Amino acid sequence: MKSVVLSVAAFVSLVPYVAAVSEWGQCGGLNYSGSTTCDSGLSCVYFNDWYSQCLRVTTTASSSTRTSSSTRSSSTSTTSRSSSTTSRASSTSTTSTTSRASSSTTSSTPVATGFVKTDGQKFVLNGQRFNPVGSNAYWLAQLSTTALIQQALAEIAQAGTTVLRVWGWNDVTSPSGTYYQLWNGATPTINYGADGLQKFDTVVAAAKAAGIRLVVPLTNNWQDYGGMDRYITQIVGSGQPHSLFYTNTAIKTAFKNYVNVFVTRYKNEPTIFSWELANEPRCNGCNVSVVTEWAKEMSAYIKSIDSNHMVALGDEGFFNQPSSSSYPYQGGEGVDFTANMAISTLDYGTFHLYPIPWGVSSGYSTWGAQWINDHAAVQKSLNKPVIIEEYGVIASDRSSAYAAWWSAVETSGLAGDQYWQAATTASGSGYNDGYGISTTDSIFPALQAHFATLKART
Ligand SMILES: *[C@@H]1O[C@H](CO)[C@@H](O)[C@H](O)[C@H]1NC(C)=O
Ligand SMILES: *[C@@H]1O[C@H](CO)[C@@H](O)[C@H](O)[C@H]1NC(C)=O
Repeated sequence: MKSVVLSVAAFVSLVPYVAAVSEWGQCGGLNYSGSTTCDSGLSCVYFNDWYSQCLRVTTTASSSTRTSSSTRSSSTSTTSRSSSTTSRASSTSTTSTTSRASSSTTSSTPVATGFVKTDGQKFVLNGQRFNPVGSNAYWLAQLSTTALIQQALAEIAQAGTTVLRVWGWNDVTSPSGTYYQLWNGATPTINYGADGLQKFDTVVAAAKAAGIRLVVPLTNNWQDYGGMDRYITQIVGSGQPHSLFYTNTAIKTAFKNYVNVFVTRYKNEPTIFSWELANEPRCNGCNVSVVTEWAKEMSAYIKSIDSNHMVALGDEGFFNQPSSSSYPYQGGEGVDFTANMAISTLDYGTFHLYPIPWGVSSGYSTWGAQWINDHAAVQKSLNKPVIIEEYGVIASDRSSAYAAWWSAVETSGLAGDQYWQAATTASGSGYNDGYGISTTDSIFPALQAHFATLKART
């Protein structure tokens, strides 16, 4: 999605919880007001200041450890909720005590081990099916502190999240926020510092602790955070065609240099789910072979430096059927989903779903379900997984459209589902473009149920 900030009213309503919490559910944490009692056989395990979770306890020894840590943490949360920095500082020591305790038990503290791979139309991890479900939080590395990053992930985890898409580029001409490349004329300098790659290290470590894997696009079709047009402006000059990003030799070399540093840094890190060549690559009016050839070259390049991770294009899934009367099927943006899916160095297909900006002014439910089914058909014919990795309509149309789309995802057998986008209290309202779904959104329980259905697939 283009990160355009829209002005919408906050849609917060508290969902009252009375029943005991089931496995994996939240049972405590800062600003959590639901039940703190877990279903029988489960213990409320402190995870961080913002999140305690009901987990199955597998041994007697760990049971007593866990009971005491959860008791400690829920009282810590209560204290912190009603008070200040002092109690937050004291909870830090609780955190380390708890993690030492949990590492010596057999219960399932989430950590990333093994790389996710594909097997036909599915994803697999250590011999078991892996179901990618989750969302997008492009802004995660922009949050100012590690604690806020952890809090955002703890909120995002409550959906049942296994994967999260986070921007892996920011190209600037003067330092601002977290950025990875600073351009001076045609010369880019990588930012290895605390507000650069070290910040992304923090994001990776926090995601790993939260049991979430990251989908990381490496540049942007749009000008948000620099992206393709930054390379063009700096290397060739302003006002030059967008297509140069895909064809100009100096630009391709500069992009590869960046990709090499970023990918090499994390090539042995299982928390990375996949690399994506770009967010929503387009080449308006171009022969579709321009993007396809670029995708072949860049995906092969990543594979040459990192054989552990999957690679995807990160595109919107536009079809190339010039006789179609429907914009996303016509190929006018220079993208051919089916041709790109066939590239051997791309492991899975991606598509997005935004009926409103694509000129579909009504009937979102039906149109979107067809769009999902059409991509699932390519998943089957090419025997490669496909993920719907961004979708959205604004609040009032949401529940009926999403019910239809989620049903289509489930019945079509599509491999994964990532909505646009996560809204959290940690990130505040500034990054919410009107599509954000928070844990207190009225649609959230239905989202959790949908993800649970997908995760039950073996
Ligand atoms: C697009 O490019 C390919 C390969 O260069 C070529 O074979 C094809 O004819 C082109 N298509 C159009 C519509 O120009
Ligand atoms: C948690 O709640 C307190 C008190 O209601 C509020 O001041 C604080 O901003 C909240 N924190 C977050 C991260 O929402």
